[in-house]
Amino acid sequence: MRLRETNSGNNISSVSISAVRFEHYREALGSGVDRPRLSWMVETDSRGWRQAGYEIVCYDAAGNTQRVPGSQTGLVESDQSVLVDWPFAPLSSRERVTLRVRVWGTDGQRSAWSEPATVEAGLLHPQDWLARFVTPDWAEDTSRPQPSPMLRREFSISAGLAQARLYVTALGVYEAQINGQPVSDHVLDPGWTSYDHRLQYQTFDVTALLREGRNAIGATLGDGWYRSRLGFGGGRRNIYGERLALLAQLELTYADGTTERVVTDESWRAATGPILASDIYDGETYDARLERPAWSVPGYDDGDWLGVALLQRDLGTLVAPTGPAVRRTEVVAPVAISRSPSGRTLVDFGQNLVGRLRVTVQGEAGQTITLRHAEVLENGELGTRPLRNALATDRYTLRGGAPETWEPAFTFHGFRYAEVEDWPGELHLADISAMVLHSDLERTGWFECSDPLINRLHENVVWSMRGNFLSIPTDCPQRDERLGWTGDIDVFAPTACFLFDVAGFLASWLADLAAEQKEAGGVVPLVVPNILPEQPVPTAVWGDAAVIVPWVLYQRYGDAGILAAQFDSMRSWVDLVAQVAGERRLWDHGFQFGDWLDPSAPPTRPIEARTDPFLIASAYFARSAELVGRAASLLGRAEDEARYLALAAEVRAAFATEYITPAGRLLSDASTAYALAIQFGLLPESDQRQRAGEMLAELVRASGYHISTGFVGTPLICDALCHAGYFDAAYRLLLQRDCPSWLYSVTMGATTIWERWDSLLPDGAINPGDMTSFNHYALGAVADWIHRTVGGLAPAAPGYRRIEFRPLPGGGLSYARVRHRTLYGMAECAWTIGVETGSIEVRVVVPPNTTGAVVLPGHDTTPIEVGSGTHQWSYPYQMRKPNRVLLTIDNTLGEIIDDPAAWAVVLAAIRATMPEYAGGELGPKGSANMPVRQVFAHSQHKSKLLSAIAAALAGLDGPEGSTS
Ligand code: BGC
Repeated sequence: MRLRETNSGNNISSVSISAVRFEHYREALGSGVDRPRLSWMVETDSRGWRQAGYEIVCYDAAGNTQRVPGSQTGLVESDQSVLVDWPFAPLSSRERVTLRVRVWGTDGQRSAWSEPATVEAGLLHPQDWLARFVTPDWAEDTSRPQPSPMLRREFSISAGLAQARLYVTALGVYEAQINGQPVSDHVLDPGWTSYDHRLQYQTFDVTALLREGRNAIGATLGDGWYRSRLGFGGGRRNIYGERLALLAQLELTYADGTTERVVTDESWRAATGPILASDIYDGETYDARLERPAWSVPGYDDGDWLGVALLQRDLGTLVAPTGPAVRRTEVVAPVAISRSPSGRTLVDFGQNLVGRLRVTVQGEAGQTITLRHAEVLENGELGTRPLRNALATDRYTLRGGAPETWEPAFTFHGFRYAEVEDWPGELHLADISAMVLHSDLERTGWFECSDPLINRLHENVVWSMRGNFLSIPTDCPQRDERLGWTGDIDVFAPTACFLFDVAGFLASWLADLAAEQKEAGGVVPLVVPNILPEQPVPTAVWGDAAVIVPWVLYQRYGDAGILAAQFDSMRSWVDLVAQVAGERRLWDHGFQFGDWLDPSAPPTRPIEARTDPFLIASAYFARSAELVGRAASLLGRAEDEARYLALAAEVRAAFATEYITPAGRLLSDASTAYALAIQFGLLPESDQRQRAGEMLAELVRASGYHISTGFVGTPLICDALCHAGYFDAAYRLLLQRDCPSWLYSVTMGATTIWERWDSLLPDGAINPGDMTSFNHYALGAVADWIHRTVGGLAPAAPGYRRIEFRPLPGGGLSYARVRHRTLYGMAECAWTIGVETGSIEVRVVVPPNTTGAVVLPGHDTTPIEVGSGTHQWSYPYQMRKPNRVLLTIDNTLGEIIDDPAAWAVVLAAIRATMPEYAGGELGPKGSANMPVRQVFAHSQHKSKLLSAIAAALAGLDGPEGSTS
């Protein structure tokens, strides 16, 4: 049957340019790149629009086209519209260029000029800095949190100020003010980087804050990641240094072209103020009675303030940010205030989030309120055990009189619940709110479907990503950890790149990784920035982030520049592994995390997974060598290409010999092993691939479609099942609600992704393992499969220049829709099954200047080629329903597992009779093919279990049309 599109829009339309971007910047003020690459999005509803050429012209500050040579490209014949090389002379420090773009289509149509887009360089060279780091000139006991210093100075401005830029950073975190006004809406600047190698500085346009005559500038410093206690097991303070310091350079440009600078030097004054202590893990203590009103306003008497001292620091480590700043991105109101069994006041925000509280309180001067934070309640009380020794407690002492509003400045917490102590009078919902903090990444991906539990799961992935993308990608945001664990972002990177624009954010993190890896002789630290005291040891998957994350960024943003920037780091990791593995090309010794948090591992020993960790290590060795070879090819490094592709082939051969039987079984009979071998292409022969697929499907079925994978297998298992043709099995895993499964946490009320499959046990108790977070994104890496397979939208070429639309309806879903804002524009795939009509509607949106290949459900024949525009199909389609048969305990366990409804009631019967069942394989190996009666023949619960199962099956409605 020939499928005809149900809409064929006309072709007469206009073409315009919607967004001109520089690099991956959200804001192009203070670029650290002197040749920022350009990208633009074309808007047109003319179908199949392809770019034939572009023209870029520069404008001077007055907006006139600079008719000077080199300020306009003329018509450039090219279909490239993303990350186009800078066509002009390199920017010099502070240089500001405004430009416009227009494009031609292959249909000869020319667009209008784009809106003006401006990029301004930051201070590109260390010698651009006249300012020096200044630190308060007093002694401190840095073995404990110290009061936050405030630094200030006054200066005069003459008439005719045209522009003012503030370039500023700190050792510690800072908030700067000019004439009493904050210079920005950023939080926790300069952010966390590998401070010994890279320290970000910010560039602010502060022209509007200044006035002719006397002005004042000031900054408050906090310990931040520079001096706060970091690391688990007690951690360490002062990892980067003992002295907080400020570096500020205010550059004034007058209309007559003259410039002046106000810089940090010994003329600054310093004092302490209301912030008595601030710590990332432990919170902030603030005494409002010690505030210094108008301290950053001219005329403030700082006579009793002390001086500052210069502090040496290599200005060559200063870098302009490539990712967005941390900001308050949302205010969450409380949903309930209640009393705990012990009489404490609890506030529930209904959403597990990352940020801090803002309170408005009225009471006596000197009264102190205490605010504690936690993600869950335990026995109705604040569940602080999972925080380990992060105090996550803020204290505010009132100045008294009128209502006062306060929010901590230099800390953040991971919490859903807050405990409020010593609040004067009654606490009302309006008195308190939660400020959500994270790096202000642009949202670029959305998914929804007909199953509310899956939608909640997806929302939980989004919230966990927001909560853990705060300056760096952290493992968790609440306990005495919050570290840039490499393995977690390795597995989550594809999902992250879909949901938000993380290109600049992760490029910065990767630069830290490369710097610290170099220092460690090629070993990739387990966490970046690396604050762990031990010498880093090479560990697979975690170390492979050095190769996988840049590769994923290239795949998802089409940015070969990231491969070029990271190539040495990528190669030196593979070289190191090759050295460790030796001639045998197998990494079979040394420390490995392996399939961390495999659900069968004991709560206190998450490392004891079913899959052989060395199988995982060698599988990743092959993968990384392969990717370094392919990156070399893209970068035109032929020699490296040959070398690493050959190495990859050798490792694959060694892996096959060591771990794969001729028939295709793996010598680690576990789901993760099969998922890795299938997804990493490690099975040489097609019959081996088929057998491995069967084995994987059998293992998953035998586990009753419970999850059986940890950090390594979880992002791969659904893809591997689909790859092997077991789509329904993948959906059964996704839709499983019993523990362990993705939806189990959702049924338990989760609003973020949990670190463990059972961070909360079915009885509501917190998992006994001391490592139990309720906000870890790693297990949420399944979202990438959901976007690509359930939604049906995947990149078919780097950066989505070509898009594959291959939705795979299943699991009884009647509808799904996925959208992604690619660098070319919005792409979308949506399908709706009309159960009554027995038809399906499929709709895809292809951005201009890209193409798509559509494989329609039920018609997975040759892909349909589509150009830009909206394309729709509607055709007969039957939802795949599991065929139901009458089941009894004489049927095999597998036959019952195959029937979702039957398995759900039998599982409930088993849970009720055998609560210790942990969701793994039931009975002896191979029990799926045994009659239920036999599976439990030797179980101590035999009779109770069999009668419960028989009753559950009898209670089921029979197959369609049969009467039970
Ligand atoms: C972290 C994880 C990390 C793991 C590695 C945990 O403590 O929370 O995110 O991947 O350690 O072992």
